[in-house]
Amino acid sequence: TWKISSLIDREITSIRERVGKSRVICGLSGGVDSSVVAALLYRALGSQLSCIFVDNGLLRKGESDSVRNQFQDHFKTDLHVVDASKLFLDQLAGESDPQKKRKIIGKVFIDVFRKEAESIDDARFLAQGTLYPDVIESGANADGPAETIKSHHNVGGLPEELGFELIEPLRDLFKDEVRKMGLELGLPEQLVWRHPFPGPGLAVRCLGEILPDRLEILREADAILLEELRNAGLYRKVQQAFAVILPIQTVGVMGDGRTYEYVLAIRAVTTDDFMTADWAQLPHELLQTISTRITNSVRGVNRVVYDISSKPPSTIEWE
Ligand code: XMP
Repeated sequence: TWKISSLIDREITSIRERVGKSRVICGLSGGVDSSVVAALLYRALGSQLSCIFVDNGLLRKGESDSVRNQFQDHFKTDLHVVDASKLFLDQLAGESDPQKKRKIIGKVFIDVFRKEAESIDDARFLAQGTLYPDVIESGANADGPAETIKSHHNVGGLPEELGFELIEPLRDLFKDEVRKMGLELGLPEQLVWRHPFPGPGLAVRCLGEILPDRLEILREADAILLEELRNAGLYRKVQQAFAVILPIQTVGVMGDGRTYEYVLAIRAVTTDDFMTADWAQLPHELLQTISTRITNSVRGVNRVVYDISSKPPSTIEWE
């Protein structure tokens, strides 16, 4: 930790020198990297920091609240939560193509973010959670169409025309160092060890057309899955775990009646680098508990399946 704390001190000094009395904007996604950037900037700059969190209506249960708890109640940052759910869902209505869904989300995000950033007076800098591996990767991409994680998905990167000077305090760090830094800065373990969550959020886990009732089902089921995984002590043994709602219904039985409801898929993977992955061999009893809890308590689901596909040939996400 001495190494991390001296790293933090060094970063703080250089941030203060560079920023002077100006204002810095930091976009929060709820994930590890942007949270660590915000925590670091808050320590360096206090009230000169403004954070923006865009609620796109595609977040998981409780996600918006936990960002508020951390960055408004605990760290008293000038936090701007923009509730743009309606805008995102309206723009996505009727669209079921995965790449088009991503494009719409990326575009609306930039519009919403830009508008909020422009409303913040005398902001001069924009902070981003770029890590060392991202720097390497984008260098490689400049020469060719390599399908790397960031290039084929990323819709979340903010364009330069926003007109801010960039601050990237994690540029020399690897993920494990970022996590250590987060803990040292007082972020909770649960946040620091959070699994990655895609920028387009639940949109790529609500297959086909995004409908509000499907999102609601997905949120409830996903929360149950993550809670059971934590209770079993297995959350950190897998690198990603989530629920996916399929846009089809299947027949089931309840009491004397026949039901015709959604199918929910559970995905859990182990991986070193997210470029290849194995499906996680979760204990059958745990899968049973998850399935029973979901079918008993989430209305609209009568069937749960477990994804036993590796990457390749599958991807981690279903869209
Ligand atoms: P796939 O599904 O390609 O995912 O095996 C590899 C990793 O990337 C994440 N992912 C995304 N991240 N925007 C993101 O920021 C996206 O559109 C996106 N799609 C997938 C995925 O969750 C996994 O960690």
